[in-house]
Amino acid sequence: MEIKKFNEKMIGDVVRLWNESVVPYSIYAEFTEESFKDKFINNPFYDNDGSCVVEEAGKIIAFGNATYNNNGLDVEKTPGYITCIAVDKAYWRQGIGTKILHYLEEFLMSKGKILVRNFFGNPINLKWYVPGYSKHEHAGAPAVEINSPYYFLLMANGYNINGQQDAYHIDLTKYQMPQKVIDKINENEKDGYTITIYDEKIHYGFDELFDALGSEGWRQAIKNNLAKEKPLPILIVQKDGEILGFTGPINNEPSGRAFLAGVAIHPKAQARGLGKTMFCSLCQKSKENGSTFMTLFTGSDNKARNIYLYAGLRVVRSFAVMRKDLK
Ligand SMILES: CC(C)(COP(=O)(O)OP(=O)(O)OC[C@H]1O[C@@H](n2cnc3c(N)ncnc32)[C@H](O)[C@@H]1OP(=O)(O)O)[C@@H](O)C(=O)NCCC(=O)NCCS
Repeated sequence: MEIKKFNEKMIGDVVRLWNESVVPYSIYAEFTEESFKDKFINNPFYDNDGSCVVEEAGKIIAFGNATYNNNGLDVEKTPGYITCIAVDKAYWRQGIGTKILHYLEEFLMSKGKILVRNFFGNPINLKWYVPGYSKHEHAGAPAVEINSPYYFLLMANGYNINGQQDAYHIDLTKYQMPQKVIDKINENEKDGYTITIYDEKIHYGFDELFDALGSEGWRQAIKNNLAKEKPLPILIVQKDGEILGFTGPINNEPSGRAFLAGVAIHPKAQARGLGKTMFCSLCQKSKENGSTFMTLFTGSDNKARNIYLYAGLRVVRSFAVMRKDLK
């Protein structure tokens, strides 16, 4: 049994290993040779020294990858990431996963990393499917699926839990706005708060909203959308023209997933049910726009979870952010 550096001639064997020994036993999506190349080799953060395989009698029986993003900072300021470890099902529980993990940790240490964190900050983030639905996909795994073999492998090797991310899902084909939501919308309308599509000729105040929320990420997401030749429609809450909340933009991804950049209400308009009802309106509009489902994830203690649960989304998988100090 030999641990070797990965090379591109091995792609076919690694893809077969993945599809036979990972996909049926986990939430992860399948690869084709093309999509594997796109995800790993063509990723600007891919470093071939961080990819390895295990060979037994000329057959590839395991694969692993680790990566990092220094983000322009001192190497010790940002973590390394273990992207994945896959072992041929016939060879599980023989210490091969551990062997690969140690190899990848050595690689990260050779790059000056003193910490590993496994979560969505990894620039090589793997697609997964919501169990029980046909191809309801989410583009990146939030962290390590709790109680999966991978979780226990990391636990057995000194990793610790450093936060929980919950993945939420709703089947939009059956979505119907409940009467209590319609009543709440009408109640807020009487006070001048309406949920509508942003129109630059009428509405103002995105910058003030993002200042009040302290979110540069949302500011940038909305700015990028509005800079497009054909911006996607953004759902907002407004009163007398002032923007007091946003969600969306409304966009149907090729998989049928409804896109979501965020959901937020200005502090001065909070606690009126506007976040909940605006998000329900997004579900309705997304369905009308052809989306069949929505997925999202958020920290288990994020108060936005009440909005998602109110709209009928359910937690379908929980993920542990895992970390280990390397020195
Ligand atoms: C996760 C995986 C890589 C583990 O590989 P492995 O070679 O079986 O791991 P090891 O033999 O080194 O296991 C080391 C320890 O991890 C723990 N562990 C591994 N698999 C486990 C499982 N299914 N249940 C409980 N504990 C497990 C055990 O403590 C084990 O030690 P032990 O066998 O002495 O009890 C393998 O199950 C796999 O390929 N799974 C599918 C791929 C996947 O989902 N990968 C993660 C996402 S990329």
